[in-house]
Amino acid sequence: MKNITVVGVGYVGIITGTCFADLGNNVCGLDSSEEKIASLKAGVMPIYQQGLKELADRNVKAGRLSFTTSYEEAINGHQAEFVFICVGTPEGVDGEADLKYVRAAAQSIAEVMDHPLVIINKSTVPVGTGDWVADIVREAQPELIPFSVVSCPEFLREGSAISDFMNPDRTILGSRDPEAAEKVAQLHLPLRAPIVVTNLRTAEMIKYASNAFLATKISFINEIANICEALDADVQEVAAGMGLDGRIGSAMLNAGIGYGGSCFPKDVKALAYMANVKGSHPQLLQAVMDINEFQRKTVVLKTRAILGEDLTGRTVGLLGLAFKAGTDDMREAPSVDIAQMLQAAGATVKGYDPVAMEWAARVIPNIQLADDAYDLVAGCDAVIVCTEWNEFKQLNLERAKELMKQPVIVDGRNIYDPGAMKKAGLIYRGVGRGHDGGASQTTP
Ligand code: UDX
Repeated sequence: MKNITVVGVGYVGIITGTCFADLGNNVCGLDSSEEKIASLKAGVMPIYQQGLKELADRNVKAGRLSFTTSYEEAINGHQAEFVFICVGTPEGVDGEADLKYVRAAAQSIAEVMDHPLVIINKSTVPVGTGDWVADIVREAQPELIPFSVVSCPEFLREGSAISDFMNPDRTILGSRDPEAAEKVAQLHLPLRAPIVVTNLRTAEMIKYASNAFLATKISFINEIANICEALDADVQEVAAGMGLDGRIGSAMLNAGIGYGGSCFPKDVKALAYMANVKGSHPQLLQAVMDINEFQRKTVVLKTRAILGEDLTGRTVGLLGLAFKAGTDDMREAPSVDIAQMLQAAGATVKGYDPVAMEWAARVIPNIQLADDAYDLVAGCDAVIVCTEWNEFKQLNLERAKELMKQPVIVDGRNIYDPGAMKKAGLIYRGVGRGHDGGASQTTP
């Protein structure tokens, strides 16, 4: 059992802290937001994640998990041995990661710490940040107290973060201090996954390279989808055939309106920024971003190809709004850009999402929110699927067709079968589904 403090209880911090507590450690969650900490103390989670509340409640009740806004309490009162920095690293100017929250955390830790610490960067941070954090701590300490910095990047997917934490493919650790890395490795032994120990910069690079590669896979299959439409092939079957090759793998080969979220867009841009600053031209990363930006336009192009370029007087419904199923997160969600493009063409836009409605209302101006999928399709000239929620997959197509003004479905996540849609009398366009499922549209 170790004493662990987590600085920042957002998407990464609350999962990291709760899971380490569930492994038997004594964890203190620290955040500068009084509101967030008050909510957590009242048993209200700061993020939507199935299973998190039960896990947190159980560990709070067992006395292994507590929350505070005080650095003194979290670092010294809690007698922390390990301090995980899990604060946000939002996209800054030109795609550079904004490290203001990491700086503030490092400074505050240094100012209060009264005993040696292992400080661990869990947040996704640019290559070189580990040394930068060490410099900040050294400069901010009133007196020299021993500490080490370890990079331990997170690989958590929203919607499956608890499972991803408890069943990692690997743990990556980087440090200038092998002893500190070994101590952090010990924390991860119960997870029974390979542990890679390297230097700080390499560990930080593994995180960026991993996310950039996953984003590349997505943009690759989306480019293949666009070519499939021109050549009358079905990208889903292409992906299935490709994925059986052990060197390719089937994951991240679902063609659609592209990636969103708080990680892929930010991390690919940040890596490209780091490369450009050093005079290394990230041509492939630029193409990944360009293709991803174009993908969200394709469903608008298809809708306008069917309804007419001018959408004035038309109503278009967005089925699903979150950047992916399993979360309420609207950050970089394709639905935001798609709504804006439709409104710019004169359309009235409706939207429905099982969990992201509140957030969507804040980020999509003038969207008309529906109560459920059928309320969404009612009166629509076209419906665009933006998020692959399970509850949409078995939609009663006959009922939907009756409710719609025009039977047009543009499937941005390929959740429907083109044959079934045709049988139901719907005009269907998928992404890369060949002529059965999608007329070709102009490619960039
Ligand atoms: C991602 C990485 O998977 C995770 O390892 C990292 O720590 C954080 O970023 P996340 O963004 O939560 O996780 O979700 P993920 O499931 O990877 O999907 C990212 C985006 O790609 C979503 O918008 C999703 O819709 C899209 N996607 C995913 C595709 O378009 N096609 C796919 O095949 C898979």
